[in-house]
Amino acid sequence: MSLQGSKYDRPEAPSPATGGNGAVAAGNKGNGTVLSSPSLRLNPSQEHKPYDYEDMQLEFSAVLLSSLEKYLPHTMLRDPRDQKAKFMQDILLKYLPPRERNRAIKHREYRQKIISNYQPRNRELYTLNPTAVFVPSFLKAINDNTEQSFRNILSEPSPGIFVFEMLQKDFCESLLEEIENFENWVTEAKFRIMRPNTMNRYGAVLEDFGFETMLDKLMEGFIRPLSRVFFAEVGGSTLDSHHGFVVEYGQDRDVDLGFHVDDSEVTLNVCLGKQFSGGELFFRGTRCENHVNTDTQSEEIFDYSHAPGQAVLHRGRHRHGARATTSGHRVNLLLWCRSSVFREMKRYQTDFPSWCDECNREKKERQRSSLATRMDIFRKVGESTT
Ligand SMILES: [Fe+2]
Ligand SMILES: [Zn+2]
Repeated sequence: MSLQGSKYDRPEAPSPATGGNGAVAAGNKGNGTVLSSPSLRLNPSQEHKPYDYEDMQLEFSAVLLSSLEKYLPHTMLRDPRDQKAKFMQDILLKYLPPRERNRAIKHREYRQKIISNYQPRNRELYTLNPTAVFVPSFLKAINDNTEQSFRNILSEPSPGIFVFEMLQKDFCESLLEEIENFENWVTEAKFRIMRPNTMNRYGAVLEDFGFETMLDKLMEGFIRPLSRVFFAEVGGSTLDSHHGFVVEYGQDRDVDLGFHVDDSEVTLNVCLGKQFSGGELFFRGTRCENHVNTDTQSEEIFDYSHAPGQAVLHRGRHRHGARATTSGHRVNLLLWCRSSVFREMKRYQTDFPSWCDECNREKKERQRSSLATRMDIFRKVGESTT
């Protein structure tokens, strides 16, 4: 079973038809009349220095907008940044398939409604200040940026599952406060929010209320370096989009979470608190699409107990679930990290995926039986010649 993230996938680079006037016509009716709908220039203004869009609420990657900016019509090059961003995003939307485009437009309206009405409580959380967020050991390991520096701070209690101290206590508390503030606003304003996925009735999508840029930085600066080393075979070095959310468990919240795989290449799961018992994660081996329902081998069984501030990093395809939180209230931060490059490459892959435990087992079994057959032939030939 695979969960669907609420954010649509990033679109592929546009490959627009070109007009003969140096501009890319978005609304040419075929009679030579270029309508005044959004269009880009064919020839970029090479000397133009684009804006940085990193701190904005965007539906497309900030890097993509910066690269596209030099293709804007001359008359727009000096326009304010938000105007340019809107113009370029409107154009990019046109290249999404109609269903996704409608979904993206609705989602944009939904986010704008939240952003313009919700008053954050702890504004400092929305920009990532590493020394306030991370424990010093984690920060040092990331700054050193070597496999050894990572190995010094994390443990791998079961293959492909990495555990480490990550978040400062004050940051966890502050984020919990912010989430509570958001939930209170949702209740008071009677705002219907989209839950993080089909399996959670509680919790909130962080990108929907202002955390997009903060999570970009978290993924790019802190999770990608780890994934590059430990999850290279599932696109760990090319993670380029995310779905970040909080989930809440307890008697008056969700109680447990069924067995599933995530819609991610790499998942970060950090416990924010508070006081609780139960809620252990159970892991049962990594599987490709063909093997997602196959039996678990005894060596794949691993159970993990959450501790506030502590993170677990694993492949999205590592099957898992959460046991019942039997008392108290548990809140976890999840970041599903995705790689568009990996997903594209996977479509053309003919070989078995090296990261699926079951594929690996089948391969070994094939090798073992072919070796046994050959040995048998040698033995029979040997017997007939003696
Ligand atoms: Fe999950
Ligand atoms: Zn497989």
